[in-house]
Amino acid sequence: MKRWTIAPGKGIETLSLEDVMSPTPAPGEVAVRVKAVSLNYRDLVIAKSFYGKGVKQPRLVPCSDGAGVITAVGKGVSKVKVGDRVAGLFFQKWPGGPPSLEAHQSGLGGELDGMLQEEVCLHEEGVTSFPSRFSYEEAACLPCAALTAWHALFERLPLKPGQTVLTMGSGGVSVFALQLAKAMGARVIATSSSNEKMERLVKIGADAVINYKERPDWEKAVKEATAGRGVDHVVEVGGAGTLERSVACAAVGGHIALIGVLAGQGSLSNPFLLVVKNATVSGIYVGSKEHFARMNAFIEEHAIRPIIDRVFSFAEAPAAYRHLESGSHFGKVVVSLG
Ligand SMILES: NC(=O)c1ccc[n+]([C@@H]2O[C@H](COP(=O)([O-])OP(=O)(O)OC[C@H]3O[C@@H](n4cnc5c(N)ncnc54)[C@H](OP(=O)(O)O)[C@@H]3O)[C@@H](O)[C@H]2O)c1
Repeated sequence: MKRWTIAPGKGIETLSLEDVMSPTPAPGEVAVRVKAVSLNYRDLVIAKSFYGKGVKQPRLVPCSDGAGVITAVGKGVSKVKVGDRVAGLFFQKWPGGPPSLEAHQSGLGGELDGMLQEEVCLHEEGVTSFPSRFSYEEAACLPCAALTAWHALFERLPLKPGQTVLTMGSGGVSVFALQLAKAMGARVIATSSSNEKMERLVKIGADAVINYKERPDWEKAVKEATAGRGVDHVVEVGGAGTLERSVACAAVGGHIALIGVLAGQGSLSNPFLLVVKNATVSGIYVGSKEHFARMNAFIEEHAIRPIIDRVFSFAEAPAAYRHLESGSHFGKVVVSLG
């Protein structure tokens, strides 16, 4: 079988296609023929810089997110069977309950080899079902981006109908957050650097859009759009570089789900603002298998479909990375293995 490997931190150009023996499932494991993989910003971070202390291997099979069909099962496997369509779980060891160090050290395509390969063996607990109407390409969008958006909005301070959500940009996490929030009956204010993408954000349900390049003081635009009240939830994918403005956007009692690092360096100069707003900042790191099950049910109930920007072939994986790197995408970038 073929697989892509990369040298973490050494650049996208170190992606290399290899021929290796097909893996055989050990007891408790299943063999999955991978049909589709989606890329996340994390895959770029791992390729280009570093990712915590987790990535220890000199070469790694990249990408956390993939879906496929089970082709063989090891001894003792009882929860899934040959022929089941499954997605790999980002965290192989977070079945549910609170997060743990063990869970955080089990990330596919980071701490562990990932999904950008034709065949993979995973523990039977490390795979999940997905909505049956989904293609493999759609299912491959769920494990990181969708689950992170779900966790941010529904698992900490759960979003209620009628509340207001701020999403940032039009990448994988933010577009899922918009779709999930609209399905819940929330009002969504979305930012983007592109007027064309803003039109698309409106088409998929955004109630108000702000160009954060044209309005560097976008927190003021958010306040204007909420009659000065602020938003109940911020899906914060910018990180340190946007946190100050996100805190300014939050309503009294608001929730800032801190997720990403897109906006680079910055700082929160006045943390006391959180106090006077009775606001909550939550660090969100993907989610558990239990979260995934609740998300699947919600996606089914509300007939949500992942928004795929472009599908590349397996051989074109480096071009898929370059496309994500360009930031020109809207939603998810997918690699199909046919
Ligand atoms: N903590 C977690 O568990 C977790 C999970 C998933 C992702 N993340 C993080 O969340 C972030 C988003 O990930 P992703 O995979 O969704 O990324 P992505 O698909 O690559 O999205 C990138 C988009 O974000 C927008 N963006 C870029 N810089 C921005 C800025 N300064 N302010 C506002 N928006 C900006 C741009 O949208 P426009 O072109 O519309 O401006 C860009 O196209 C990344 O930092 C990633 O590492 C964290």
